[in-house]
Amino acid sequence: MTAPKKLFIKTYGCQMNVYDSERMAESLGGQGYVATDTPDDADMILLNTCHIREKAAEKIYSELGRMRPFKEANPDLKIGVAGCVAQAEGAEIMARQPMVDLVVGPQSYHRLPELEAKVRDGQKALDTDFPEEDKFEHLVARPKAKRGPTAFLTVQEGCDKFCAFCVVPYTRGAEVSRPAERVMGEALDLVERGVREITLLGQNVNAYHGHARGLSGLIRDLAKVDGLERIRFTTSHPNDMDDDLIAAHGDCDKLMPYLHLPVQSGSDKILKAMNRKHTAESYVRLIERIRGVRPDLLLSGDFIVGFPGETEADFQATLDLVEAVGYGQAYSFKYSPRPGTPAAERAEVDAGEADERLQRLQALLTRQQKAAQDEMVGREVTVLFEKPGRLRGQMVGKSEYLHAVHVTSDKVGRGDLARVRIVESVRNSLAGEVI
Ligand code: SAH
Ligand code: SF4
Ligand code: F3S
Repeated sequence: MTAPKKLFIKTYGCQMNVYDSERMAESLGGQGYVATDTPDDADMILLNTCHIREKAAEKIYSELGRMRPFKEANPDLKIGVAGCVAQAEGAEIMARQPMVDLVVGPQSYHRLPELEAKVRDGQKALDTDFPEEDKFEHLVARPKAKRGPTAFLTVQEGCDKFCAFCVVPYTRGAEVSRPAERVMGEALDLVERGVREITLLGQNVNAYHGHARGLSGLIRDLAKVDGLERIRFTTSHPNDMDDDLIAAHGDCDKLMPYLHLPVQSGSDKILKAMNRKHTAESYVRLIERIRGVRPDLLLSGDFIVGFPGETEADFQATLDLVEAVGYGQAYSFKYSPRPGTPAAERAEVDAGEADERLQRLQALLTRQQKAAQDEMVGREVTVLFEKPGRLRGQMVGKSEYLHAVHVTSDKVGRGDLARVRIVESVRNSLAGEVI
Protein backbone atom coordinates (compact mmCIF):
# COMPACT_ATOMS: atom_id res chain seq x y z
CA MET A 1 0.00 0.00 0.00
CA THR A 2 1.23 3.49 -0.79
CA ALA A 3 1.35 6.12 1.94
CA PRO A 4 -1.83 8.22 2.10
CA LYS A 5 -1.73 11.57 0.39
CA LYS A 6 -2.58 14.62 2.45
CA LEU A 7 -5.45 16.96 1.69
CA PHE A 8 -5.76 20.47 3.12
CA ILE A 9 -9.12 22.16 2.60
CA LYS A 10 -9.76 25.76 3.54
CA THR A 11 -13.41 26.78 3.65
CA TYR A 12 -14.85 30.26 3.12
CA GLY A 13 -18.43 31.55 2.94
CA CYS A 14 -21.61 29.98 4.19
CA GLN A 15 -22.45 26.73 6.01
CA MET A 16 -23.27 25.10 2.69
CA ASN A 17 -19.59 25.34 1.88
CA VAL A 18 -18.75 23.72 5.23
CA TYR A 19 -20.98 20.80 4.28
CA ASP A 20 -19.54 20.64 0.75
CA SER A 21 -15.97 20.61 2.12
CA GLU A 22 -16.82 17.56 4.24
CA ARG A 23 -18.26 15.79 1.22
CA MET A 24 -15.25 16.71 -0.94
CA ALA A 25 -12.86 15.37 1.67
CA GLU A 26 -14.85 12.13 1.82
CA SER A 27 -14.85 11.94 -1.95
CA LEU A 28 -11.08 12.31 -2.15
CA GLY A 29 -10.75 9.83 0.72
CA GLY A 30 -11.57 7.21 -1.92
CA GLN A 31 -8.51 8.41 -3.87
CA GLY A 32 -6.24 7.76 -0.91
CA TYR A 33 -6.30 11.21 0.69
CA VAL A 34 -6.44 11.89 4.40
CA ALA A 35 -7.21 15.32 5.82
CA THR A 36 -4.45 17.46 7.27
CA ASP A 37 -4.94 20.73 9.12
CA THR A 38 -1.93 22.53 7.70
CA PRO A 39 -0.93 23.33 4.12
CA ASP A 40 2.78 22.68 4.93
CA ASP A 41 2.83 18.98 4.14
CA ALA A 42 -0.21 18.75 1.87
CA ASP A 43 -0.26 16.91 -1.47
CA MET A 44 -3.38 18.78 -2.43
CA ILE A 45 -4.72 22.15 -1.28
CA LEU A 46 -8.35 22.95 -2.00
CA LEU A 47 -9.82 26.39 -1.39
CA ASN A 48 -13.61 26.16 -1.11
CA THR A 49 -14.55 29.71 -1.95
CA CYS A 50 -17.24 32.37 -1.60
CA HIS A 51 -18.19 35.02 -4.18
CA ILE A 52 -20.85 36.89 -2.24
CA ARG A 53 -18.94 40.18 -1.87
CA GLU A 54 -15.96 41.62 -3.69
CA LYS A 55 -13.66 41.26 -0.68
CA ALA A 56 -14.53 37.57 -0.35
CA ALA A 57 -13.55 36.89 -3.96
CA GLU A 58 -10.36 38.98 -3.85
CA LYS A 59 -9.27 37.18 -0.69
CA ILE A 60 -8.97 33.99 -2.74
CA TYR A 61 -6.38 35.49 -5.06
CA SER A 62 -4.27 36.74 -2.17
CA GLU A 63 -4.58 33.34 -0.50
CA LEU A 64 -3.44 31.67 -3.73
CA GLY A 65 -0.46 34.03 -3.76
CA ARG A 66 0.45 32.79 -0.28
CA MET A 67 0.39 29.20 -1.55
CA ARG A 68 3.33 29.82 -3.89
CA PRO A 69 6.09 28.79 -1.42
CA PHE A 70 4.33 25.46 -0.81
CA LYS A 71 4.22 24.79 -4.54
CA GLU A 72 7.89 25.77 -4.91
CA ALA A 73 8.88 23.45 -2.05
CA ASN A 74 6.83 20.58 -3.43
CA PRO A 75 6.33 20.57 -7.21
CA ASP A 76 3.95 17.60 -6.87
CA LEU A 77 1.55 19.68 -4.81
CA LYS A 78 -1.78 20.19 -6.58
CA ILE A 79 -3.82 23.31 -5.96
CA GLY A 80 -7.56 23.43 -6.54
CA VAL A 81 -10.27 26.07 -6.29
CA ALA A 82 -13.83 24.93 -5.53
CA GLY A 83 -17.03 26.72 -4.55
CA CYS A 84 -18.66 29.90 -5.79
CA VAL A 85 -15.57 31.76 -7.06
CA ALA A 86 -14.77 28.64 -9.11
CA GLN A 87 -18.28 28.74 -10.57
CA ALA A 88 -18.27 32.48 -11.25
CA GLU A 89 -14.75 32.82 -12.67
CA GLY A 90 -13.96 29.36 -14.09
CA ALA A 91 -10.93 29.30 -16.38
CA GLU A 92 -10.18 32.94 -15.52
CA ILE A 93 -8.74 31.68 -12.21
CA MET A 94 -6.08 29.61 -14.00
CA ALA A 95 -5.33 32.54 -16.32
CA ARG A 96 -4.79 34.86 -13.33
CA GLN A 97 -3.04 32.30 -11.18
CA PRO A 98 -1.34 29.64 -13.38
CA MET A 99 -0.29 27.47 -10.46
CA VAL A 100 -3.93 26.45 -9.99
CA ASP A 101 -4.37 22.89 -11.32
CA LEU A 102 -8.03 22.31 -10.66
CA VAL A 103 -11.23 24.38 -10.74
CA VAL A 104 -14.49 22.73 -9.71
CA GLY A 105 -17.91 24.30 -9.17
CA PRO A 106 -20.36 23.57 -6.33
CA GLN A 107 -22.63 21.43 -8.52
CA SER A 108 -19.94 19.23 -10.05
CA TYR A 109 -17.66 18.25 -7.17
CA HIS A 110 -18.94 14.65 -7.22
CA ARG A 111 -16.63 14.39 -10.23
CA LEU A 112 -13.58 15.20 -8.08
CA PRO A 113 -12.12 11.66 -8.29
CA GLU A 114 -11.84 11.90 -12.11
CA LEU A 115 -10.62 15.49 -11.93
CA GLU A 116 -7.98 14.50 -9.37
CA ALA A 117 -6.75 11.69 -11.63
CA LYS A 118 -6.40 14.22 -14.43
CA VAL A 119 -4.30 16.63 -12.39
CA ARG A 120 -2.14 13.76 -11.09
CA ASP A 121 -1.50 13.04 -14.74
CA GLY A 122 -0.08 16.55 -15.09
CA GLN A 123 -3.08 18.09 -16.82
CA LYS A 124 -5.30 20.98 -15.78
CA ALA A 125 -8.88 20.13 -14.82
CA LEU A 126 -11.91 22.43 -15.03
CA ASP A 127 -15.54 21.52 -14.35
CA THR A 128 -18.16 24.19 -13.72
CA ASP A 129 -21.13 22.35 -15.23
CA PHE A 130 -24.61 22.27 -13.79
CA PRO A 131 -24.93 18.56 -14.61
CA GLU A 132 -28.17 16.66 -15.20
CA GLU A 133 -27.30 13.94 -12.71
CA ASP A 134 -27.92 14.38 -8.98
CA LYS A 135 -24.59 15.20 -7.37
CA PHE A 136 -25.64 13.63 -4.07
CA GLU A 137 -26.39 10.29 -5.73
CA HIS A 138 -22.93 10.21 -7.25
CA LEU A 139 -20.98 11.15 -4.17
CA VAL A 140 -19.19 8.39 -2.31
CA ALA A 141 -21.17 6.96 0.62
CA ARG A 142 -20.51 8.78 3.85
CA PRO A 143 -18.05 6.95 6.13
CA LYS A 144 -19.35 5.18 9.24
CA ALA A 145 -16.84 6.68 11.67
CA LYS A 146 -18.08 8.34 14.87
CA ARG A 147 -18.41 12.09 14.69
CA GLY A 148 -19.25 15.11 16.84
CA PRO A 149 -22.72 15.87 18.21
CA THR A 150 -23.72 18.51 15.63
CA ALA A 151 -23.89 18.28 11.85
CA PHE A 152 -25.00 20.23 8.81
CA LEU A 153 -27.16 18.50 6.24
CA THR A 154 -27.79 20.15 2.88
CA VAL A 155 -31.37 19.54 1.74
CA GLN A 156 -31.84 22.26 -0.85
CA GLU A 157 -29.51 24.12 -3.14
CA GLY A 158 -29.68 27.06 -5.48
CA CYS A 159 -32.02 30.01 -5.56
CA ASP A 160 -34.73 31.31 -7.90
CA LYS A 161 -35.31 34.56 -6.05
CA PHE A 162 -32.84 36.76 -7.95
CA CYS A 163 -32.42 39.53 -5.41
CA ALA A 164 -30.90 42.33 -7.48
CA PHE A 165 -27.59 42.32 -5.55
CA CYS A 166 -26.92 38.60 -5.23
CA VAL A 167 -24.65 36.17 -7.10
CA VAL A 168 -26.07 32.99 -5.55
CA PRO A 169 -28.63 32.24 -8.32
CA TYR A 170 -25.71 32.37 -10.78
CA THR A 171 -23.11 30.44 -8.77
CA ARG A 172 -25.40 27.78 -7.32
CA GLY A 173 -28.01 27.61 -10.07
CA ALA A 174 -31.75 26.98 -9.86
CA GLU A 175 -33.51 25.76 -6.73
CA VAL A 176 -33.27 21.99 -6.31
CA SER A 177 -34.51 19.94 -3.35
CA ARG A 178 -33.22 16.52 -2.33
CA PRO A 179 -35.95 13.90 -1.94
CA ALA A 180 -37.08 13.50 1.70
CA GLU A 181 -36.24 9.75 1.80
CA ARG A 182 -32.60 10.50 0.92
CA VAL A 183 -32.39 13.25 3.51
CA MET A 184 -33.93 10.93 6.12
CA GLY A 185 -31.41 8.22 5.20
CA GLU A 186 -28.51 10.61 5.64
CA ALA A 187 -29.96 11.91 8.92
CA LEU A 188 -30.35 8.38 10.35
CA ASP A 189 -26.80 7.64 9.37
CA LEU A 190 -25.56 10.81 11.11
CA VAL A 191 -27.50 9.92 14.26
CA GLU A 192 -25.97 6.42 14.28
CA ARG A 193 -22.59 8.11 14.19
CA GLY A 194 -23.30 10.17 17.28
CA VAL A 195 -24.99 13.29 15.91
CA ARG A 196 -27.69 14.76 18.19
CA GLU A 197 -28.35 18.07 16.44
CA ILE A 198 -28.85 18.57 12.72
CA THR A 199 -28.99 21.91 10.94
CA LEU A 200 -30.82 21.59 7.63
CA LEU A 201 -29.16 23.77 5.03
CA GLY A 202 -30.26 25.47 1.86
CA GLN A 203 -29.64 28.82 0.18
CA ASN A 204 -33.37 29.10 0.54
CA VAL A 205 -34.12 26.22 2.81
CA ASN A 206 -37.75 27.01 3.48
CA ALA A 207 -38.47 26.73 -0.25
CA TYR A 208 -37.68 23.01 0.22
CA HIS A 209 -40.13 20.88 -1.75
CA GLY A 210 -38.59 17.40 -1.49
CA HIS A 211 -41.33 16.45 0.98
CA ALA A 212 -45.08 16.55 0.17
CA ARG A 213 -45.55 18.98 3.08
CA GLY A 214 -42.43 21.02 2.45
CA LEU A 215 -39.75 21.84 5.01
CA SER A 216 -42.11 21.54 7.99
CA GLY A 217 -43.07 18.03 6.81
CA LEU A 218 -39.41 17.06 6.74
CA ILE A 219 -38.82 18.61 10.18
CA ARG A 220 -41.80 16.74 11.63
CA ASP A 221 -40.51 13.43 10.23
CA LEU A 222 -37.02 14.11 11.56
CA ALA A 223 -38.48 14.92 14.98
CA LYS A 224 -39.62 11.27 15.21
CA VAL A 225 -36.05 9.99 14.96
CA ASP A 226 -34.87 8.63 18.32
CA GLY A 227 -31.51 10.00 19.32
CA LEU A 228 -31.89 13.15 17.25
CA GLU A 229 -32.59 15.79 19.86
CA ARG A 230 -32.39 19.10 18.05
CA ILE A 231 -33.30 20.42 14.62
CA ARG A 232 -32.39 23.79 13.13
CA PHE A 233 -32.58 25.20 9.61
CA THR A 234 -30.95 28.03 7.71
CA THR A 235 -31.23 30.24 5.59
CA SER A 236 -34.82 31.24 5.05
CA HIS A 237 -36.65 33.77 2.91
CA PRO A 238 -39.60 35.63 4.48
CA ASN A 239 -41.87 34.78 1.52
CA ASP A 240 -41.41 31.04 2.06
CA MET A 241 -42.42 30.91 5.75
CA ASP A 242 -45.65 28.93 5.31
CA ASP A 243 -48.34 28.37 7.96
CA ASP A 244 -47.19 24.91 8.98
CA LEU A 245 -43.55 25.99 9.31
CA ILE A 246 -44.70 28.80 11.60
CA ALA A 247 -46.86 26.32 13.56
CA ALA A 248 -43.90 23.94 13.90
CA HIS A 249 -42.06 26.62 15.88
CA GLY A 250 -44.83 26.33 18.45
CA ASP A 251 -45.55 22.61 18.55
CA CYS A 252 -42.39 20.77 17.51
CA ASP A 253 -40.24 20.41 20.64
CA LYS A 254 -37.11 19.41 18.77
CA LEU A 255 -37.20 22.50 16.53
CA MET A 256 -35.00 25.04 18.30
CA PRO A 257 -36.27 28.56 19.09
CA TYR A 258 -33.79 30.30 16.80
CA LEU A 259 -34.59 31.66 13.38
CA HIS A 260 -32.35 33.33 10.83
CA LEU A 261 -34.69 35.38 8.66
CA PRO A 262 -32.92 38.07 6.63
CA VAL A 263 -34.81 41.23 5.70
CA GLN A 264 -31.91 43.26 4.15
CA SER A 265 -33.59 46.67 4.49
CA GLY A 266 -36.43 48.41 6.31
CA SER A 267 -37.32 50.70 3.40
CA ASP A 268 -40.05 49.54 1.01
CA LYS A 269 -38.51 51.53 -1.82
CA ILE A 270 -35.18 49.73 -1.34
CA LEU A 271 -36.84 46.33 -0.82
CA LYS A 272 -38.57 46.82 -4.16
CA ALA A 273 -35.33 47.86 -5.86
CA MET A 274 -33.71 44.77 -4.34
CA ASN A 275 -36.50 42.58 -5.82
CA ARG A 276 -37.23 41.14 -2.38
CA LYS A 277 -40.98 40.92 -3.09
CA HIS A 278 -42.01 41.74 0.48
CA THR A 279 -42.44 44.92 2.48
CA ALA A 280 -41.03 45.98 5.85
CA GLU A 281 -44.56 45.81 7.26
CA SER A 282 -45.21 42.26 6.00
CA TYR A 283 -41.88 41.16 7.52
CA VAL A 284 -42.73 42.69 10.91
CA ARG A 285 -46.20 41.02 10.83
CA LEU A 286 -44.55 37.70 10.00
CA ILE A 287 -42.20 37.96 12.97
CA GLU A 288 -45.17 38.77 15.19
CA ARG A 289 -46.94 35.62 14.03
CA ILE A 290 -43.90 33.42 14.72
CA ARG A 291 -43.36 35.02 18.13
CA GLY A 292 -47.07 34.46 18.75
CA VAL A 293 -46.43 30.71 18.78
CA ARG A 294 -42.90 30.88 20.19
CA PRO A 295 -42.45 34.00 22.34
CA ASP A 296 -38.86 33.20 23.31
CA LEU A 297 -37.69 32.89 19.68
CA LEU A 298 -34.23 34.37 19.15
CA LEU A 299 -34.22 36.14 15.83
CA SER A 300 -31.24 36.58 13.55
CA GLY A 301 -31.04 38.63 10.37
CA ASP A 302 -28.94 39.94 7.48
CA PHE A 303 -28.79 43.58 6.42
CA ILE A 304 -27.29 45.45 3.50
CA VAL A 305 -26.54 49.17 3.78
CA GLY A 306 -25.69 51.52 0.93
CA PHE A 307 -27.72 49.67 -1.70
CA PRO A 308 -27.97 51.86 -4.86
CA GLY A 309 -30.56 54.58 -4.29
CA GLU A 310 -30.54 54.30 -0.47
CA THR A 311 -31.07 57.72 1.09
CA GLU A 312 -30.62 58.71 4.73
CA ALA A 313 -34.41 58.33 5.14
CA ASP A 314 -34.30 54.79 3.71
CA PHE A 315 -31.48 53.93 6.08
CA GLN A 316 -33.43 55.41 8.98
CA ALA A 317 -36.28 53.03 8.05
CA THR A 318 -33.84 50.12 8.48
CA LEU A 319 -32.85 51.38 11.93
CA ASP A 320 -36.55 51.74 12.80
CA LEU A 321 -37.25 48.18 11.70
CA VAL A 322 -34.35 46.87 13.78
CA GLU A 323 -35.67 48.79 16.80
CA ALA A 324 -39.16 47.43 16.23
CA VAL A 325 -38.15 43.80 15.72
CA GLY A 326 -35.21 43.26 18.10
CA TYR A 327 -32.46 40.89 16.97
CA GLY A 328 -30.50 38.49 19.14
CA GLN A 329 -27.99 37.93 16.36
CA ALA A 330 -27.31 39.75 13.09
CA TYR A 331 -24.99 40.10 10.13
CA SER A 332 -24.71 43.42 8.35
CA PHE A 333 -22.80 44.28 5.22
CA LYS A 334 -21.94 47.23 3.05
CA TYR A 335 -23.40 46.72 -0.40
CA SER A 336 -20.84 45.28 -2.80
CA PRO A 337 -21.59 45.40 -6.54
CA ARG A 338 -21.28 41.93 -8.06
CA PRO A 339 -20.57 41.52 -11.78
CA GLY A 340 -23.54 40.17 -13.70
CA THR A 341 -26.21 41.18 -11.15
CA PRO A 342 -28.82 43.85 -12.05
CA ALA A 343 -27.82 46.18 -9.18
CA ALA A 344 -24.22 46.31 -10.40
CA GLU A 345 -25.41 48.57 -13.25
CA ARG A 346 -26.83 51.19 -10.87
CA ALA A 347 -25.20 54.31 -9.43
CA GLU A 348 -23.58 53.62 -6.09
CA VAL A 349 -24.07 55.38 -2.77
CA ASP A 350 -21.04 57.41 -1.66
CA ALA A 351 -18.62 54.93 -0.02
CA GLY A 352 -17.95 57.12 3.02
CA GLU A 353 -21.67 57.53 3.58
CA ALA A 354 -22.23 53.77 3.34
CA ASP A 355 -19.38 53.10 5.82
CA GLU A 356 -20.86 55.52 8.27
CA ARG A 357 -24.32 53.92 7.99
CA LEU A 358 -22.82 50.49 8.50
CA GLN A 359 -21.18 51.65 11.71
CA ARG A 360 -24.43 53.12 13.00
CA LEU A 361 -26.38 49.96 12.17
CA GLN A 362 -23.74 47.71 13.70
CA ALA A 363 -23.70 49.75 16.90
CA LEU A 364 -27.45 49.23 17.26
CA LEU A 365 -27.31 45.52 16.38
CA THR A 366 -24.42 44.92 18.78
CA ARG A 367 -26.40 46.60 21.55
CA GLN A 368 -29.38 44.33 20.85
CA GLN A 369 -27.22 41.22 20.69
CA LYS A 370 -25.57 42.03 23.98
CA ALA A 371 -28.94 42.73 25.61
CA ALA A 372 -30.31 39.39 24.37
CA GLN A 373 -27.27 37.59 25.75
CA ASP A 374 -27.33 39.46 29.08
CA GLU A 375 -31.02 38.64 29.47
CA MET A 376 -30.09 34.98 29.76
CA VAL A 377 -28.42 35.51 33.14
CA GLY A 378 -30.48 33.77 35.83
CA ARG A 379 -32.35 31.63 33.30
CA GLU A 380 -32.17 27.88 32.81
CA VAL A 381 -31.26 26.61 29.38
CA THR A 382 -30.45 23.24 27.84
CA VAL A 383 -26.92 22.93 26.51
CA LEU A 384 -25.60 20.41 24.01
CA PHE A 385 -21.95 20.06 24.94
CA GLU A 386 -19.55 19.93 22.02
CA LYS A 387 -15.96 20.29 23.21
CA PRO A 388 -13.63 21.08 26.09
CA GLY A 389 -13.17 24.77 26.83
CA ARG A 390 -9.94 26.74 27.07
CA LEU A 391 -9.61 26.22 30.80
CA ARG A 392 -9.03 22.92 32.59
CA GLY A 393 -12.25 21.06 33.38
CA GLN A 394 -14.33 23.33 31.17
CA MET A 395 -16.89 22.12 28.62
CA VAL A 396 -18.45 24.31 25.95
CA GLY A 397 -21.71 23.88 24.09
CA LYS A 398 -24.69 25.73 22.66
CA SER A 399 -28.02 26.62 24.23
CA GLU A 400 -31.32 26.31 22.37
CA TYR A 401 -30.79 29.93 21.34
CA LEU A 402 -27.36 29.18 19.87
CA HIS A 403 -25.53 31.08 22.58
CA ALA A 404 -22.17 29.57 23.46
CA VAL A 405 -22.27 28.38 27.08
CA HIS A 406 -19.33 27.17 29.16
CA VAL A 407 -19.39 25.29 32.45
CA THR A 408 -16.73 23.87 34.73
CA SER A 409 -18.00 20.42 35.59
CA ASP A 410 -16.98 16.79 35.43
CA LYS A 411 -20.63 15.77 35.11
CA VAL A 412 -20.89 16.52 31.39
CA GLY A 413 -19.00 15.26 28.37
CA ARG A 414 -19.07 15.68 24.61
CA GLY A 415 -22.52 15.00 23.19
CA ASP A 416 -24.35 15.36 26.52
CA LEU A 417 -27.44 17.52 26.86
CA ALA A 418 -27.82 19.10 30.29
CA ARG A 419 -29.86 21.74 32.03
CA VAL A 420 -27.70 24.69 32.95
CA ARG A 421 -28.34 27.83 34.97
CA ILE A 422 -26.72 30.89 33.42
CA VAL A 423 -24.72 32.85 35.97
CA GLU A 424 -22.79 35.37 33.92
CA SER A 425 -22.68 36.98 30.50
CA VAL A 426 -19.11 37.42 29.31
CA ARG A 427 -17.84 38.79 26.01
CA ASN A 428 -18.81 36.13 23.50
CA SER A 429 -20.32 33.48 25.71
CA LEU A 430 -22.34 32.71 28.79
CA ALA A 431 -21.01 31.09 31.94
CA GLY A 432 -23.29 28.51 33.53
CA GLU A 433 -23.65 25.87 36.23
CA VAL A 434 -24.94 22.39 35.55
CA ILE A 435 -28.17 21.88 37.53
N1 SAH B 1 -29.87 32.82 0.79
C1 SAH B 1 -29.61 33.60 1.89
C2 SAH B 1 -28.20 34.11 2.02
C3 SAH B 1 -27.57 34.81 0.92
S1 SAH B 1 -25.97 35.43 1.14
C4 SAH B 1 -30.67 34.65 1.99
O1 SAH B 1 -31.40 34.92 1.08
O2 SAH B 1 -30.79 35.21 3.03
C5 SAH B 1 -25.91 36.03 2.78
C6 SAH B 1 -26.09 37.50 2.93
O3 SAH B 1 -25.06 38.20 2.26
C7 SAH B 1 -27.37 38.04 2.36
O4 SAH B 1 -28.47 37.82 3.17
C8 SAH B 1 -27.04 39.51 2.21
O5 SAH B 1 -27.31 40.22 3.39
C9 SAH B 1 -25.54 39.51 1.97
N2 SAH B 1 -25.21 39.83 0.57
C10 SAH B 1 -25.53 39.12 -0.53
N3 SAH B 1 -25.09 39.76 -1.64
C11 SAH B 1 -24.48 40.89 -1.23
C12 SAH B 1 -23.86 41.99 -1.89
N4 SAH B 1 -23.78 42.03 -3.22
N5 SAH B 1 -23.34 42.99 -1.14
C13 SAH B 1 -23.44 42.96 0.21
N6 SAH B 1 -24.03 41.97 0.89
C14 SAH B 1 -24.55 40.94 0.19
FE1 SF4 C 1 -29.40 35.66 -2.80
FE2 SF4 C 1 -31.87 36.59 -2.51
FE3 SF4 C 1 -31.50 34.05 -3.20
FE4 SF4 C 1 -30.87 34.86 -0.76
S1 SF4 C 1 -32.94 34.84 -1.65
S2 SF4 C 1 -29.62 33.56 -2.09
S3 SF4 C 1 -30.12 36.93 -1.09
S4 SF4 C 1 -30.98 35.82 -4.44
FE1 F3S D 1 -20.70 32.46 -0.62
FE2 F3S D 1 -21.53 30.75 -2.38
FE3 F3S D 1 -22.33 30.53 0.12
S1 F3S D 1 -21.23 32.89 -2.73
S2 F3S D 1 -22.35 32.64 0.79
S3 F3S D 1 -20.27 30.31 -0.61
S4 F3S D 1 -23.52 30.13 -1.68
